[in-house]
Amino acid sequence: MESSSIRLAVIPGDGIGGEVVAEGLKVLQAAGVKAETVEYDLGAKRYHLSGETLPDGVLEELRGFDAILLGAVGDPSVPPGVLERDLLLRLRFELDHYVNLRPVKLYPGVETPLAGVRPEDLDMIVVREGTEGLYAGAGGVLRRGTPQEIATQESLNTAFGVDRVVRYAFDKAQARPRRKLTLVHKTNVLTFAGDLWARTVDRVSVEYPEVTTDYCHVDAASMFFVNQTQRFDVIVTDNLFGDILTDIGAAVAGGIGLAASGNVNPSRTSPSMFEPVHGSAPDIAGQGKADPTATILSVAMLLDHVGLGAVAARVEQAVADDLLGRQVAGSGRQTREIGDDIAARVAG
Ligand code: NAI
Ligand code: MG
Repeated sequence: MESSSIRLAVIPGDGIGGEVVAEGLKVLQAAGVKAETVEYDLGAKRYHLSGETLPDGVLEELRGFDAILLGAVGDPSVPPGVLERDLLLRLRFELDHYVNLRPVKLYPGVETPLAGVRPEDLDMIVVREGTEGLYAGAGGVLRRGTPQEIATQESLNTAFGVDRVVRYAFDKAQARPRRKLTLVHKTNVLTFAGDLWARTVDRVSVEYPEVTTDYCHVDAASMFFVNQTQRFDVIVTDNLFGDILTDIGAAVAGGIGLAASGNVNPSRTSPSMFEPVHGSAPDIAGQGKADPTATILSVAMLLDHVGLGAVAARVEQAVADDLLGRQVAGSGRQTREIGDDIAARVAG
């Protein structure tokens, strides 16, 4: 597998998306991975040109790839929600990315705002459910714009959907040295959904006797992300909680420029999509100021997913080495220079 070619769809997107994706592809090439890439111009530009977000024909083409690399989409010129819902969320739902995988890891040499926290205290993986919950789009509005407006937004949780993401999280926990899985929810208030999640974890845990399970309310978990990060190894949680928690995770593990993610379809019925957690950063777009590290780490996750685990490990090590060097060398490098340096380490 290590020498075969991967078919990769690339969606640079908007703002800094194209800048960081170029560095991700540079590292991929430096790693000697044979990749056949096809670029798709989805995002704000396409939307303004043709009104299209994700044409059905493009979606069908995307299904034929081994994986997708995405930069970021979103621009102040597009009404909020259009690209998020009709492009990003649609891709996640249509391609059944039921796992949103977000490692939260403090690399040696990276500064954290948390006093006294060492890399060994902060190394976890958040397994966020990606296709259900409050993001499923269930709900509606009545008498909009009037004082009598009613807006509902319902959280959908299916036994099938919860079971499959919980099993994925148990597998992840089983494969890590600590073998600990924490369910994060709000079972004391969200009693219907919380009950389904808690019962599912209990039921599946019987099949994983080596994995220790734990439970934490999401409000308490937010606190522990700051003052007791050692508590966590693998976390499984619903779509919204995972979205919010992983932003805290990004902040404590060195910032948004380092946070990588994967929208994973573990059943492999369609390609998984890897992307930095950050957005299109219009405030710094076009200035070469964006840190491409999150994208390069997302490329490592992509390589791991397509069966190139050894190459993925080399890329991650190159990033770790670069991060360690940043203390000494200081920052101030341009996007392209960081990509060049990491690519050189991967090649060498
Ligand atoms: P953002 O993540 O784009 O930026 C937040 C702050 O972090 C900004 O100050 C930005 O300069 C900085 N930043 C982000 N990435 C960076 C990087 N790689 N290196 C250095 N600094 C970086 O979030 P914001 O400003 O809320 O959203 C901007 C646009 O991006 C919006 O249209 C939003 O909807 C979209 N967005 C898209 C996402 C995606 O494509 N998955 C995710 C989040 C936001
Ligand atoms: Mg988010």
